Amino acid sequence: MSISFAGKVAIVTGAGGGLGRAYALELARRGAKVVVNDLGAARDGSGASDAAALVVEEIRSAGGEAIADGSSVTEFEQMQAMVAKAKADWGGVHVLINNAGILRDKSFTKMDPSDFDLVVKVHLSGSANATKAVWDMMREQNYGRILMTASSTGLFGNFGQANYGAAKLGLAGLTKTLYLEGAKYNVRVNTLAPVAATRMTADIFPEEAFKLFGSENVVPAALYLVSDDAPSNAIVGAGAGAYHSAFVTMNPPVILAQEDRTVEGFAANWARISDRTGDFVPQSGTEQSHAILAAMQAAMKG
Ligand code: NAI
Repeated sequence: MSISFAGKVAIVTGAGGGLGRAYALELARRGAKVVVNDLGAARDGSGASDAAALVVEEIRSAGGEAIADGSSVTEFEQMQAMVAKAKADWGGVHVLINNAGILRDKSFTKMDPSDFDLVVKVHLSGSANATKAVWDMMREQNYGRILMTASSTGLFGNFGQANYGAAKLGLAGLTKTLYLEGAKYNVRVNTLAPVAATRMTADIFPEEAFKLFGSENVVPAALYLVSDDAPSNAIVGAGAGAYHSAFVTMNPPVILAQEDRTVEGFAANWARISDRTGDFVPQSGTEQSHAILAAMQAAMKG
């Protein structure tokens, strides 16, 4: 069964190159009208270029429909204007892929607070801005598919990327609340942790690995996660033709006897408290409270 985006309007932020360009080209090939957003910045977020317009030309010359948008995800009003234009031209927005990003890598010791702020601003606040700009429309039209772009750094950590990791796990957190708020309105929200050979990773991968990690290998996961039959609240990793899921889990709560609720009692029970046997994936924050209450009730009965 082929998966079509005919009749859909999609916005891809940061689509002037790398992964975003690959998503935009394939969405258009599958029938979507695509807003190619990109201010055309350098890897560290400085400067601007006509990167978005070049991708739009590529899409048009392949017979697709696209418009370029050179605004910055950091500016909410610009995101609102971008969405308003898509609505005026094409009637609505059905898909949003939050992909724009920059890097300001440094060990935390050497990191200037301004490098922390800017990276959080582009990735986390930028994704929130674009999402907020489409959110009410998606609710009203009872259809929305939103993808947040996280990273292995956010989910698992990487040396030298404290700013980036904080922003990227923040995006997984944003997904986890928005999927709940969107559920009633057929708005589905997912998180992708890609690995791809782009300018972002050009000096990290050895040359051989760089060849394996073409952006085209990430496209199937990204497009499935914004398709009609997409799941919601998934965290998916994709790179080099390998795909996996990731989960935020908790283990069954351990109830300490009243006399053990001391620092020493906690220390003595640390092996049990950190034992992963029986791990499960709460679907909302309240499930944590319910698990605690259920464990307390069971302990009181026992
Ligand atoms: P890239 O640098 O080729 O693409 C990022 C794009 O975002 C650039 O075209 C840039 O001009 C644009 N951009 C930057 N600031 C912007 C702003 N304020 N407003 C609008 N556009 C802006 O890098 P790549 O690798 O394609 O990255 C895409 C996304 O995937 C990023 O969010 C990145 O953090 C994420 N990612 C990439 C990984 C990889 O292995 N390449 C690994 C994990 C995450």
